[in-house]
Amino acid sequence: MQKLLEIKELTVSYDHEVVLNDVNLTVHKGDFLGVIGPNGGGKTSLIKAILGLVKPSKGQILFHIPQTRIGYLPQINQIDKRFPITVLDVVRSGKTDRRSFSLFAKQTEEIAHAESLLNEMGVWQLRHKAIGELSGGQMQRVFLCRSLMNRPELLILDEPDTFVDNQFESELYEKLKELNQRMAIVLVSHDVGTISYYVKTIACVARELHYHPSNIISTTQLASYNCPLQIITHGDVPHTVLGLHDKHQHDHKHDHEHDH
Ligand SMILES: Nc1ncnc2c1ncn2[C@@H]1O[C@H](COP(=O)(O)OP(=O)(O)O)[C@@H](O)[C@H]1O
Ligand SMILES: [Mg+2]
Repeated sequence: MQKLLEIKELTVSYDHEVVLNDVNLTVHKGDFLGVIGPNGGGKTSLIKAILGLVKPSKGQILFHIPQTRIGYLPQINQIDKRFPITVLDVVRSGKTDRRSFSLFAKQTEEIAHAESLLNEMGVWQLRHKAIGELSGGQMQRVFLCRSLMNRPELLILDEPDTFVDNQFESELYEKLKELNQRMAIVLVSHDVGTISYYVKTIACVARELHYHPSNIISTTQLASYNCPLQIITHGDVPHTVLGLHDKHQHDHKHDHEHDH
């Protein structure tokens, strides 16, 4: 399968304190990878390293796609709600990949694209509002549109489930499932119970990264990955996440019909 990026022996430190140690990970076309791990485990640092926002102290990341084709939805608490900018402008600001025709054609195309994304996410009617007027769920949708402006081949989301209600959360995941048909997705979350229903594979990040080639993970495995997490399930999330992980499950990784 086509590789989008390869992380090799990546170490990230802040003031000589190692927060990610010797991490290896390959992201392929079509992937839907859930990145889980405890608070402070290094998930955001991993994403920032991929985006070039922190410098690795060791190792490298090989990109097989242009870095402009990586979309990013930051943690919402990093967004300043008082910033005086409209919804449409927030979405347009995601367009950083600027190889195009005339300025006019470019702007017209850009606005049309932004509006079509807002429409796809069901928030087109909010396009002239200031972002500060939006609810958490609406804001999350708007920033999701922004992260799609460069037509990414890889979309990275950092805890998009924080500060949004359960209903929006499942809507968002359904939307991501759709988007996954046209792009690879890396979804950071502390809620393994919920995301395991949507993702195809899992990476546990707690200073080290353990890759798990399935969306079904047991508490025993989490422990063996040094990934101390409480599994919280709510709603109609399948209980397979708690199921025993035997070797057959590798052959049925998209099958959610396991025993409860
Ligand atoms: N800019 C920074 N300077 C110093 N330490 C940081 C910085 N960013 C994160 N850290 C520390 O690195 C560790 C990993 O943080 P982070 O990558 O944000 O983890 P996670 O996203 O899994 O919660 C934490 O101990 C955090 O306090
Ligand atoms: Mg984080």
